[in-house]
Amino acid sequence: MTTKILEFDDVSAGYNKGYVIHNLSFSLENNSVLALVGLNGSGKSTLLKLCTGVLKVSRGALLIRDRPVNNYTARERAQHVALVPQGFSFPTSLSVYDFVVMGRYPYLGPFRALSAVDRSIIKDALLRTGVFEFKDSPLSSLSGGERQRAAIAAALAQDAELLLLDEPATYLDPAARAATYRLVRELKKTAGRSVIFATHDLNDALAVADKVLALKEGRLKFLGDVSEFYNKDLLDAVYGDVFEIIRPAQSSAPVFTLKGL
Ligand SMILES: Nc1ncnc2c1ncn2[C@@H]1O[C@H](COP(=O)(O)OP(=O)(O)OP(=O)(O)O)[C@@H](O)[C@H]1O
Ligand SMILES: [Mg+2]
Repeated sequence: MTTKILEFDDVSAGYNKGYVIHNLSFSLENNSVLALVGLNGSGKSTLLKLCTGVLKVSRGALLIRDRPVNNYTARERAQHVALVPQGFSFPTSLSVYDFVVMGRYPYLGPFRALSAVDRSIIKDALLRTGVFEFKDSPLSSLSGGERQRAAIAAALAQDAELLLLDEPATYLDPAARAATYRLVRELKKTAGRSVIFATHDLNDALAVADKVLALKEGRLKFLGDVSEFYNKDLLDAVYGDVFEIIRPAQSSAPVFTLKGL
């Protein structure tokens, strides 16, 4: 099997007028965690939507396991790629459990009966995201962060080899944020999964990811090891002159703070 789970080959894409992603080429190896960064509107969510086939590539090729993303059926693709979208709107009358069951749809037969394996995967997803206690509650009764965790549970239940998280820590309290990112590391380490997560928090990217991909106005500005990204000139090129990098005594990792605050 190929070592590449995902490959963008000179991809350009957009919505109605013009491209939002321009000539993007990169590949993602098996078993890796990639942080996707860039300013608002730089194309992070668009890149993730392209990976799910929801948004079509206009030029170039996007391959999942060496096969064009649009050559998969929706069901097949969902077995490879799961997305937790940004600001997802939920079917709120559903219980958390029934919502997470939806993650198993790519595997269910015509009668949609859950097997013991399905049930065990669903339970595991509910437990790992800390929403098991809410399983019988309607989604509408959950807080924003709890709903975000339920969305991650549904994506985990989908059991895809590539998990895409669009700003997963938005709405999460510090404990839930840490638990979510621990889960990302765990999925890589123990389940051999790959994860791409979009974030505005460079400290989280540094702590969690192996590599960083930075977009600016839909173009690739940087792709490399996280340690190489912590370079003031590069940060200025991606974000403008807004960050300071500080290196606290007794810490091996740099910390990012906003200038002038
Ligand atoms: N459904 C859409 N229809 C038309 N244009 C869109 C649509 N979604 C996004 N865009 C445009 O595409 C560009 C990139 O948007 P995208 O959502 O990918 O940015 P982003 O990097 O995820 O930003 P943010 O950090 O704010 O989430 C923006 O200029 C945006 O206005
Ligand atoms: Mg976005």
